[in-house]
Amino acid sequence: MSNVFNFTFVPWFRSVAPYIHKHRHNTLVVGIAGEAIAAGKLQNLAQDLALIQSMGVEIVLVHGFRPQVNEQLRLKGHEARYSHGMRITDEVALDCAQEAAGQLRYEIEAAFSQGLPNTPMAGATVRVISGNFITARPVGLMDGVDFQHSGLVRKVDTEGIQRTLDMGAMVLLSPFGFSPTGEAFNLTMEDVATSVAVALQADKLMFLTEVPGIRVDEADPESGIDTELPLADARKMLAALPAPTQPTDTAFYLQHCIRACEGGVDRSHILPFSVDGALLLEIYTHDGIGTMVVDEKLESVREATMDDVSGIVALIEPFEKDGTLVKRDRTEIERDAGNYTIIEHDGVIFGCAALYPYPEARTGEMAALTVSPDTQSQGDGERLLKRIETRAKAQGLQSIFVLTTRTMHWFIKRGFVQVGADWLPEARKRKYNWDRKSQVLVKKLS
Ligand SMILES: CC(C)(COP(=O)(O)OP(=O)(O)OC[C@H]1O[C@@H](n2cnc3c(N)ncnc32)[C@H](O)[C@@H]1OP(=O)(O)O)[C@@H](O)C(=O)NCCC(=O)NCCS
Repeated sequence: MSNVFNFTFVPWFRSVAPYIHKHRHNTLVVGIAGEAIAAGKLQNLAQDLALIQSMGVEIVLVHGFRPQVNEQLRLKGHEARYSHGMRITDEVALDCAQEAAGQLRYEIEAAFSQGLPNTPMAGATVRVISGNFITARPVGLMDGVDFQHSGLVRKVDTEGIQRTLDMGAMVLLSPFGFSPTGEAFNLTMEDVATSVAVALQADKLMFLTEVPGIRVDEADPESGIDTELPLADARKMLAALPAPTQPTDTAFYLQHCIRACEGGVDRSHILPFSVDGALLLEIYTHDGIGTMVVDEKLESVREATMDDVSGIVALIEPFEKDGTLVKRDRTEIERDAGNYTIIEHDGVIFGCAALYPYPEARTGEMAALTVSPDTQSQGDGERLLKRIETRAKAQGLQSIFVLTTRTMHWFIKRGFVQVGADWLPEARKRKYNWDRKSQVLVKKLS
């Protein structure tokens, strides 16, 4: 092993450690679109999931099979029929779904059974267990359309799944469920994954999909991906969107993420399977990828109003006194209250940060980032940063910058890079205090 490798590998591996500790003993429900398997991603996905499981995460894997069922139908000369964005499962389609599910299960089990030396699966012993964990009910008739053998999840055998996970096995579910009369129903992967995540009160629900995530501006396909979508904003967005008919429609996965969050799953994700290692990137790196829908009720991050000014002043005052933050007048904070984002617990403000945009330079300053000494090191600083990033992206900014004298490393760890004061937008340069010698750090927004 060369020295260069030591130098890069050791700090890199250590930087992942906090995420390994954080997710240990978490429950993860992963919904893999059938398209991912059709695109030949199964081997790498199995390797990544085996690695994640070996780091103490309990995994329920739900596979989709839309393209595989359509292929079977095509071979039988039968047309795939949809309505309301759902498959109409007649007798032929049910046969095709059963064949496709059987074939996929076999392929997935085979992928988890690899163990050749010098591959990421060497030494991995992943036990994959499937079972009749889902009770289904028929979709029935909708607007005069009979969905026949298409079903919806009625009940999840939480105890059975949990017991299987406790044994150290990975649970594999196909989008099938059975009625108490023994009838089989074709379900959707998204419904099964969401229902299981809610029933288990999983820590995360992750969809691996054809789409890269939810765009900041849904109407503009060139706009960036919204990395963090608060539940309230996600609901508003969904209400404004047309009912989805294709998995590539913005509302398609969004509706399930919202349902999961409303059902008590803290975070649900829409990730692109086209990015190799998407699951690893999302779980074990700071920035993650794709879109995460998060229930911010839990965290009470919100934009400030005039009523919050006293709380903000009380929070930042000690840091102004010891020179960590630049002094701001109360009137200035009152004037700029709308620029502030705060974290509030039970009516007390425990954190704040402000965004001052410089639209002409397509950047914005994050100022006055403060977390109360009583609640530091619980991730509130990071939550404020994420919210400021989201606000900046919504305003069309391409980067945010900070001026700091003492907190440089905190920002560098979160994707900021140091630049010279000359980098600052002209209007900000004029106000720069050259005596204070603050370092300027910039973070590009993807
Ligand atoms: C910087 C600050 C906002 C971070 O808030 P937080 O809620 O504690 O942050 P998080 O929980 O997201 O992150 C905590 C991590 O940052 C580290 N950290 C805290 N202050 C740091 C600093 N000045 N430099 C480097 N790392 C720091 C903590 O040790 C902790 O590391 P760990 O997770 O390895 O234990 C908070 O410490 C603060 O208010 N500091 C005083 C005001 C300030 O410096 N603001 C920035 C002005 S530019």
